[in-house]
Amino acid sequence: MATVLLLADWRGSTERRAKSMEMNSVWKAFDLMLLTFLISFLVAVTNSVSAQVNTMTNLSCFTHSIKDLIMTTWEILLRDRAPCIIAYREDKNETKETNCSGEGITWESRPEWNHKLQIDPVTVDNDGYYKCIFVTPAGNFQTVHHLTVLVPPVVTLSEEGNRTVECKAVAGKPAAQISWVPKGDCFTVNETHHNRTVTVKSTCTWKGFNGSSATCFISHLTGNKNVSIEHQSHSK
Ligand SMILES: *[C@@H]1O[C@H](CO)[C@@H](O)[C@H](O)[C@H]1NC(C)=O
Ligand SMILES: *[C@@H]1O[C@H](CO)[C@@H](O)[C@H](O)[C@H]1NC(C)=O
Ligand SMILES: *[C@@H]1O[C@H](CO)[C@@H](O)[C@H](O)[C@H]1NC(C)=O
Ligand SMILES: *[C@@H]1O[C@H](CO)[C@@H](O)[C@H](O)[C@H]1NC(C)=O
Ligand SMILES: *[C@@H]1O[C@H](CO)[C@@H](O)[C@H](O)[C@H]1NC(C)=O
Ligand SMILES: *[C@@H]1O[C@H](CO)[C@@H](O)[C@H](O)[C@H]1NC(C)=O
Repeated sequence: MATVLLLADWRGSTERRAKSMEMNSVWKAFDLMLLTFLISFLVAVTNSVSAQVNTMTNLSCFTHSIKDLIMTTWEILLRDRAPCIIAYREDKNETKETNCSGEGITWESRPEWNHKLQIDPVTVDNDGYYKCIFVTPAGNFQTVHHLTVLVPPVVTLSEEGNRTVECKAVAGKPAAQISWVPKGDCFTVNETHHNRTVTVKSTCTWKGFNGSSATCFISHLTGNKNVSIEHQSHSK
């Protein structure tokens, strides 16, 4: 039922557009908004995905091939942005786009791409919700990917004198966790940057420490690291 309404609406809008070219973008926005209301009863699947910054990632609409696809729509909700909507009509081999500039997103509707959305390269601004809606004669379906962009922190270790060592995990996303061996007298501060990356700084002092080295362990979703420092003067 909704499918029929949807098609009728699209046809109607095509005629309206033909009559009034300057109203084109308005109708386009209207159609797409109507579309989201019409298919509110659909079958939904949601999953959380993550991707590392400066890599390429694909988000898929469906995992196995779908017979008799009528239409596929990607709705992209990013922080501080108007929703970006891209719709593809199978029978017309036609794509429409609203508010989707500069996201680094490409969408190839060709069958061999399986309606995958490609983000290349991934940036910190790609955090958000990517919803794919596909319409078939059997009903309407939705897949939502909640994308979290990961940024590996840059790790530094420096001796501050007086058996005080500072370990930093700079601009990681999410914040890195820092621990030490041996345990010292430490304090840790986190600083969140405008791009939602976090610098974690841990400063430790060892009073009466006899060992020859201290190791800072940085654990992060993009991989764990450790850095050590030797105390040469200490053995005297
Ligand atoms: C596209 O963006 C403009 C301005 O940001 C906004 O007014 C409009 O509602 C958006 N269109 C849709 C369909 O969200
Ligand atoms: C994304 O999809 C394209 C086209 O199918 C493919 O060439 C590429 O290797 C895929 N990339 C990843 C990271 O899966
Ligand atoms: C769809 O259109 C694109 C160009 O807009 C074309 O390259 C492609 O061959 C067309 N596919 C079909 C199935 O007609
Ligand atoms: C170094 O440690 C000594 C003794 O604990 C203290 O008197 C001195 O002020 C410290 N110096 C610095 C720069 O923290
Ligand atoms: C995020 O912002 C910080 C501080 O301005 C900067 O050092 C870092 O390179 C930025 N990271 C990304 C991935 O944009
Ligand atoms: C440091 O080493 C000395 C001698 O090797 C030992 O007596 C002392 O207990 C050690 N201190 C600590 C804190 O391990």
